[in-house]
Amino acid sequence: MTQSQQHEQHEHTSKMVLFKLMQMSDCRMVFDWLQQPRISKWFAPIDGVNISYEEYTDIHQRKIEFSNKPLSETHHQQYYVVTDDDGTPFGCISCYNAKHDPCFFEKSIIHPNETRDTFGIDDFYIGNEAYLNHHLGKQILTAFIERVLKPNKFIGRILIDVNPENIVAHGLYNSLGFRKIAEFDDPGYNRMIVMELL
Ligand SMILES: CC(C)(COP(=O)(O)OP(=O)(O)OC[C@H]1O[C@@H](n2cnc3c(N)ncnc32)[C@H](O)[C@@H]1OP(=O)(O)O)[C@@H](O)C(=O)NCCC(=O)NCCS
Repeated sequence: MTQSQQHEQHEHTSKMVLFKLMQMSDCRMVFDWLQQPRISKWFAPIDGVNISYEEYTDIHQRKIEFSNKPLSETHHQQYYVVTDDDGTPFGCISCYNAKHDPCFFEKSIIHPNETRDTFGIDDFYIGNEAYLNHHLGKQILTAFIERVLKPNKFIGRILIDVNPENIVAHGLYNSLGFRKIAEFDDPGYNRMIVMELL
């Protein structure tokens, strides 16, 4: 099974989720998803909100070019489109290796002597509203951790960040075992809680 075709059986419905590395041809759909107020309120311009489509594709062209290396070997973030078992896209999720981000060292979230890689999950949302509230958010995260992150042999901790006002996402991460390790004001994102899964 390739990293871009990971899947997990859903415990509540017969649907499965699959992860496909994002391509430039996905940009229009993903950009339109991001502009929905229920999503855009949790994201910043660098993620693709409150900017033009041209600016968005410019940012992503560079990101997508480097996104197919193993996570342990790259400092580039990897972006995935989530599809159901019919191949219908309905959400997004991304991951990165936190050891390449000096901000995590400054805030003592990562320590210089860590022997394993700490991976972060980011840019997570269900873009197609018809897929909300079916426990698919939970299923996406579980499958992503098991099928995309855990096969990396140097994996240690997993981080995820959330605005404390995002009650649904915070509750979801909590229910999956993520625990708060830091909270701070992040320029462009307002307040941010960082949670870890051991
Ligand atoms: C976050 C998101 C992906 C969750 O997807 P979803 O399919 O609606 O969520 P699920 O049905 O899988 O998860 C439901 C879980 O969320 C949590 N949750 C939902 N509503 C909640 C509430 N009002 N209070 C606390 N927790 C809540 C619970 O843990 C719940 O699980 P449970 O029903 O077993 O208790 C989706 O709401 C979304 O796309 N939101 C907009 C973008 C976003 O906020 N992204 C995250 C940025 S950090």
